[in-house]
Amino acid sequence: MFNILLLPGDGIGPEVVKEAVKILEFVFDRKGVIVDFQEELIGGCSIDRYGVPLRDEVVEKARGSSAVFLGAVGGPKWDNLPVDKRPEAGLLKIRRELKLWANIRPIKVFKSLHHISPLKKDVIDGVDMVILRELTSDVYFGEPRGEFGDHAKNTMIYYKEEVERIAHLGFKIALSRKKKLVSVDKSNVLEVSAFWRKVVSEVSRNYPEVELTHIYVDAMSYYLILNPKRFDVVLCPNLFGDILSDEAGGIIGSLGLCPSASLGDELDKGKIFGLYEPVHGSAPDIAGKGIANPIAAILSASLMLNYSFGMAEEAKLIEKAVEKVLEDGIRTPDIAEKKPKKKIRVVGTEEFGNCVLKKLQRLMNK
Ligand code: NAD
Ligand code: IPM
Ligand code: MN
Repeated sequence: MFNILLLPGDGIGPEVVKEAVKILEFVFDRKGVIVDFQEELIGGCSIDRYGVPLRDEVVEKARGSSAVFLGAVGGPKWDNLPVDKRPEAGLLKIRRELKLWANIRPIKVFKSLHHISPLKKDVIDGVDMVILRELTSDVYFGEPRGEFGDHAKNTMIYYKEEVERIAHLGFKIALSRKKKLVSVDKSNVLEVSAFWRKVVSEVSRNYPEVELTHIYVDAMSYYLILNPKRFDVVLCPNLFGDILSDEAGGIIGSLGLCPSASLGDELDKGKIFGLYEPVHGSAPDIAGKGIANPIAAILSASLMLNYSFGMAEEAKLIEKAVEKVLEDGIRTPDIAEKKPKKKIRVVGTEEFGNCVLKKLQRLMNK
């Protein structure tokens, strides 16, 4: 018996989580696996109810669960709160408390969605990379931090072991793919980045089969647009990884397509604990309209099945079901071609989720 903690959060979070849960329930049911889903508050909704973005007891509940599924946090209602009291602080707290230091953000172009990318078809065709973002260190968590009268400060810091463990994982992922790893830094200006580059280079000696390239973050944001196909594994410190993964979402056409898995220490032992969430945020501009794209959430559920439940086959079938729905021309507004070459049908979040579920049912009953 497994238990999954759901943290739908704010804005479109609950809207897309609902669709991902539908898929998970079907798969577990079909496999005869009993799973108990529990739900808790995180982010703005938790502030409104309890005065804090994440209660300690929710962290404990998460710790005791098989996996955590999160929607999104934040929104204009809470934008004027001090940084450490905001909804986002709840998300940072759960990542840090659960020691989820590795954030895997796959970026893959869908065959049927070449035309929604702002880039030309031949530039986008075949894009398939993994952004591996360090998640529990860097300027996000460094001390001292705060506002001090006439100035404010944050501290960018990386310990050697933090760089080593994420670098080892990056090289291992690269070994299972095209054996190319790009490490992103700003080592021409920042000591922390020079250190990052040095440690990544040291770790690379254990992986002679993997081709390592170091690229400055400014140039990286340029190459990502110019020739995204050249990238396989992109290893990033926390802040640069945050920024580049949204850019990568733009390259494939929508943030609504980008899933993520946040994993911790037991990465090499098969079934592992993880927190799964879309890369996107609460999307206040479309929240409550029922039009959010649930693909990022559904693919995050697929990552959950793969990493935390050892269900690689089912995870692949979910990806396939999404691909087939897209082939049928079903679209949410964010991925609807303006001048479609084939007939498309624009639907809302729930209907899109139902279409994926139907395809999956067909694929799994074969
Ligand atoms: P955002 O990712 O919420 O939205 C950026 C743009 O992408 C918007 O135009 C939005 O409509 C679009 N978009 C995002 N997800 C979509 C989806 N599933 N379907 C269709 N369109 C989608 O970023 P933002 O507007 O900068 O941030 C809004 C709030 O979310 C802020 O409070 C921010 O701190 C928070 N945030 C939370 C997370 C998270 O919980 N993991 C991530 C990023 C931002
Ligand atoms: C993300 C988000 C978060 C981050 C925020 C909401 C704390 O942007 O998951 O990409 O910066 O890590
Ligand atoms: Mn982000």
